[in-house]
Amino acid sequence: MGTIRVLLAALLIGVALPAAAQPPAPAGPRAMSVQEQQLLGQLREIDGRVSIPNRNAGVLIQPAGRDWRVFQEQTMTWIGGIAVLGMLGVLVLFYLVRGKVRISAGASGRTIQRFNGFERFVHWLTASTFVVLAISGLNISFGRMLLLPLVGHEAFASLSVVLKYAHNFLAFPFIVGLVLTLLTWIADNIPSRADARWFAAGGGLVGSTHPPAKRFNAGQKLLFWSVVLGGAALSASGVLLLFPLQFTDIAGMQLANMVHGAVGLAMIGIIIAHIYIGSVGMEGAFDAMGSGQVDLNWAREHHSLWVEEQVAKGRAAVPPRGARAAE
Ligand code: HEM
Repeated sequence: MGTIRVLLAALLIGVALPAAAQPPAPAGPRAMSVQEQQLLGQLREIDGRVSIPNRNAGVLIQPAGRDWRVFQEQTMTWIGGIAVLGMLGVLVLFYLVRGKVRISAGASGRTIQRFNGFERFVHWLTASTFVVLAISGLNISFGRMLLLPLVGHEAFASLSVVLKYAHNFLAFPFIVGLVLTLLTWIADNIPSRADARWFAAGGGLVGSTHPPAKRFNAGQKLLFWSVVLGGAALSASGVLLLFPLQFTDIAGMQLANMVHGAVGLAMIGIIIAHIYIGSVGMEGAFDAMGSGQVDLNWAREHHSLWVEEQVAKGRAAVPPRGARAAE
């Protein structure tokens, strides 16, 4: 009985004691890291004091930098894998299932002018600079992980220096190409009702029907606006990165870096699809940007409304459907 009374008394005293009076939990590494996370969450940065003009040199810890590092090391790898490898996989699958998109009626042997010399110059200026920017950009993000183990330190260092200079300087002609692309083709890329019908018919890529389209079909308009808007985001963020801390602070640099990386990778995926369909994926397509002249049957199948417009303007004489060059 006496023992029970003692136990009850001990229990009551334990409940009644204020929490503060309890001995503090031993400070272990876990407890410390919780406190550190709270501290980092509260502060934009932890600064020291510097007497030189560069105030940024006084930043000791900038907590947002940790999120940026996670983005660089993990998120970018995922976006790159999905955009680049995913797109390559989709195209291989598309080729295996659909094969090359042929001119259903066969080549007519007669041609119609699709793009003039200036338009082709603008296209190849933008395209050639983009391809080098894409390769050099991929090397900046993934070269150390993928290329260095294959070629060794010396070759990787020499190659990376050349590619880095190429990336910095080709940004300028790319921006010029982008502005010219916008000015040259914006009128032909305004969305219209025919675009909805084109999408509804699967763009003629699935099945054998060719939905009517003007100079650019809905898929090409999507590409145009991706290039213009994505290119604008790449250019703006790229200029911030080219002139570090001149126009923005460290947080702004990190944001610019993340936008540049994510948009760049997405655009590379889109352009891989464009290059496929503009070359090996579709019979007769490359001529449009090569010589500027496309086969009349190709034009009638892919851009029937545009051919009608050209004929109405007297820019093309169209023989009856099915007529071949030899006839
Ligand atoms: C490097 C390989 C490339 C090839 C073989 C290629 C091929 C082509 C072809 C054949 C066309 C004309 C399509 C038609 O007549 O309907 C075209 C149009 C176009 N290209 Fe490219 N291209 C390439 C790269 C690029 C790049 C890197 C960009 C932009 C960054 C680009 C942007 C465009 C745009 C905006 C159009 C007009 C819309 C369209 O037709 O889709 N091209 N390209």
